[in-house]
Amino acid sequence: MTLLRVTDLDCRYGLLQAVRGVSLEIAEGETVALIGANGAGKTTLLRALAGAHRPHAGRVEFDGADITRTPPHGRVGLGIALVPEGRRLFPGLTVEENLRVAAAGRRGRWKVQSVLEVFPLLQPRRHMPAANLSGGEQQAVAIGRALMSNPRLLLLDEVSLGLAPVVVDAVYRSLGDVIKEGATVLLVEQDLTRALKVAGRVICMLEGRVVLEGEAASLDRDRVVRAYFGLRRPA
Ligand SMILES: Nc1ncnc2c1ncn2[C@@H]1O[C@H](COP(=O)(O)OP(=O)(O)OP(=O)(O)O)[C@@H](O)[C@H]1O
Ligand SMILES: [Mg+2]
Repeated sequence: MTLLRVTDLDCRYGLLQAVRGVSLEIAEGETVALIGANGAGKTTLLRALAGAHRPHAGRVEFDGADITRTPPHGRVGLGIALVPEGRRLFPGLTVEENLRVAAAGRRGRWKVQSVLEVFPLLQPRRHMPAANLSGGEQQAVAIGRALMSNPRLLLLDEVSLGLAPVVVDAVYRSLGDVIKEGATVLLVEQDLTRALKVAGRVICMLEGRVVLEGEAASLDRDRVVRAYFGLRRPA
């Protein structure tokens, strides 16, 4: 079943067109990696899906309903959660408080306890202010906070940015558990190898457009790299 359908989406910042005629579909239960060079429009697209950026044109449908004009909190209520670039926790609140404030109306599997189980590194930090956490721990809280809304669609923007490789491994291991439980995930990841490993399907953007899309298992890596950098086929 198609959970998310985006049709001809345009997003602008003044005269700059950051997303150009993007159409895509994500089926329930899929994990899709969104890749592309700096400035390709990935963050803008994710923000438009979460309702944080108002598109100039186009349509966003979620579970069959037109949500193009639904505000961000309305989309959280429908089951769309965004882990934004840069985490944005409440620094003075503890780990547990950061999680609790995100527990919106939707009931489901994710509670403080289940989040701490999937991110065991947070267990001993539970009563510590978020400001005192390491980057990796903060990222785990940011993902946990999104889970607390029991989303049907989880949007993740570069969760591994600025983290040490061993921490990235830990975050992705936990994410693997979340995905195994049937979550539908759209994640932005700059590390191509990791993106191809975690996702069933890959979508590559270049200068606001989708330039390549395919099953992760069958995509030719060279083709992905060329699409990523906007290179022509070798003669
Ligand atoms: N708030 C803003 N105001 C004006 N222009 C913006 C704003 N945010 C992004 N842009 C521009 O829109 C384009 C797309 O940016 P976006 O952040 O969506 O790209 P991205 O693919 O997420 O890049 P990165 O990999 O660097 O995170 C870029 O040209 C960027 O400079
Ligand atoms: Mg970005």
